[in-house]
Amino acid sequence: MLDVLGTLERTNTCGELQAGNVGESVVLMGWVAKKRDFGVFTFIDLRDREGVTQVVVSEETAREAHAKAKGLRGEFVIAVKGEVVARDEGAKNTKLPTGDIEVKVSEILVLNDANVLPFQLEVAGSENLAAEDTRLKYRYLDLRRPQLQHNIRTRAKAVAAIREYFDERGFIEIETPILLKSTPEGARDFVVPSRIHTGKFFALPQSPQILKQLTMISGFDKYYQIARCFRDEDLRADRQPEFTQLDMEMSFAHQEMAYREMQGMFNHIFAKVGGISLPAEWPRMTYAEAMRRYGSDKPDLRFGMELVDLSGELAGTDFAPFASVLESKGEIKCIVAKGKADYSRKQLDELQEFVKRYGAGALAWIKAVEPEGGSGSDGGWVLTSSLLKALGEEKIADLAKAAGVEKGDLVLIVAGRKSVVAASLGALRIEIAKRENLIDRAAYKPLIVTEFPMFEHDEETDRYAAAHHPFTSPMDEDLEKFKTAVNDESQHHLLGEVRAKAYDAVINGYECAGGSIRIHQKDVQALNFKALGMSTESARVQFGFFLDALEYGTPPHGGFAAGIERTCMILCGTENIRDVMAFPKTASAQDLMMDSPGDVDGAQLKELGIAISD
Ligand code: AMO
Repeated sequence: MLDVLGTLERTNTCGELQAGNVGESVVLMGWVAKKRDFGVFTFIDLRDREGVTQVVVSEETAREAHAKAKGLRGEFVIAVKGEVVARDEGAKNTKLPTGDIEVKVSEILVLNDANVLPFQLEVAGSENLAAEDTRLKYRYLDLRRPQLQHNIRTRAKAVAAIREYFDERGFIEIETPILLKSTPEGARDFVVPSRIHTGKFFALPQSPQILKQLTMISGFDKYYQIARCFRDEDLRADRQPEFTQLDMEMSFAHQEMAYREMQGMFNHIFAKVGGISLPAEWPRMTYAEAMRRYGSDKPDLRFGMELVDLSGELAGTDFAPFASVLESKGEIKCIVAKGKADYSRKQLDELQEFVKRYGAGALAWIKAVEPEGGSGSDGGWVLTSSLLKALGEEKIADLAKAAGVEKGDLVLIVAGRKSVVAASLGALRIEIAKRENLIDRAAYKPLIVTEFPMFEHDEETDRYAAAHHPFTSPMDEDLEKFKTAVNDESQHHLLGEVRAKAYDAVINGYECAGGSIRIHQKDVQALNFKALGMSTESARVQFGFFLDALEYGTPPHGGFAAGIERTCMILCGTENIRDVMAFPKTASAQDLMMDSPGDVDGAQLKELGIAISD
């Protein structure tokens, strides 16, 4: 038999009662987290979002409540009335904020019962959690775990801090539509069929990019929005098909102003939400430098292990694989894993398999080890290498010197196309740092990456795609090169050298925000569509409205968008994006709780004029 709440109200949460409250009459409401029966006494850990309070029911002083307590099971929802009493010295729980007291119950109301949960909520350590698929199916239960409660509340605080930051600076929050025409941001669109216009489709925004630029043309001057974005792209640990951005744009803005706002916003969020102080002025690095030193455009600066270029040392080598790499303008680079010369054959094989995933053909190594029979009093060392036969002792010694090797170090070398060397050594650098615990988990290392390339070249199709998006402005220094490359067919390859006024905010190796100064002149925008291989007609069909808008007095403008999930992952110390979303999708873009995507019935399809082909 369940009790009704009636007009009863709780006086306190389960996380706040302490020694100072002893003697107070209280009403608490929450879930039965744990129950221990000791015959005449029953102890219950009562949980709500603020914490846990121990309540005790005595058969002697509260006979009816004690009888009810006997029937309670885990996750029943109850209300208790009682008095706050001090715990005996030996019974205090120093791990709980409420551990000095307990509530001596006079009355219990059973507000609802609960089935036995499909998995256990209370487990020690994240490695003991139930399988993630089970937890996602019952996400509403998993969300009861204190860790997820904390993460979701951290996210709410981050969004509040963002609003506070932009409101204070005169930015205006403007909502833009979810039912849109597709805006190209590099991923596939999610499309929505129109019933009224049979055969036509809306697209969900990959971001509100064009719309926010239009608000600048409309004269709002400073815009922001907490915007839901949808991208049908391959998922990774830090990507979801549906995610949220802080999206902002401002008029009369150049890069320095955008950097200032990016830094300012993140500094405000981190201080406000995590009590973390980031540097007032973030370090900066050009894209080219980041790729050269870290093999990544989002380097994690919490540890060193920078890439070292060995191409110079190996110029003129007659070792055929290296010679052909250098011949075809490739690179040979390495990283040095300090003190890791003791890596076994098996470990090196594993690392070789690891770099192969990034396209590397092989992973060569040099080790600085003790000579057989010990190093003697001079602490000497010798070099061994997988390349010893191919290059000879002298060259190996040159390479080790160039890499700055010391006794006990392991050098890992990759040769190949520049993009492959960067991707494989960039990833290997992080892999080794993780394996060897080289990352200072308490550190926060932000960075602004500047001067991104304007285009990405697809070797298969020999086409150029926008590296950021098609509305990004080329750098003033590269404008002439850009114009030449577009207008003169024979100079098309120069597009690969054009740099953009595009920038990212990177924290601890995560791309937390990206943005650019936009093209505000119609002719430059039209040229850019042409550079991207769009005919004048198709540019008009897709973007006619926007090209027109650019003709009615468009202020120079720019902005950025920050990933709320990525930012919260850092604030919450998790590498799993699902940990900072209330109802996330799986890595294969499914919602296991609602079982979506799902079928729609035939009538609905017919109404939309859609037939499913097999
Ligand atoms: P961009 O595509 O760089 O820029 O996205 C901005 C930020 O959004 C986050 N992000 C994601 N987070 C989770 N899952 C995803 N699938 C995902 N994709 C992106 C990242 C990224 O830095 N319109 C431009 C911004 C601009 O130019 O102003 C844009 O969307 O943290």
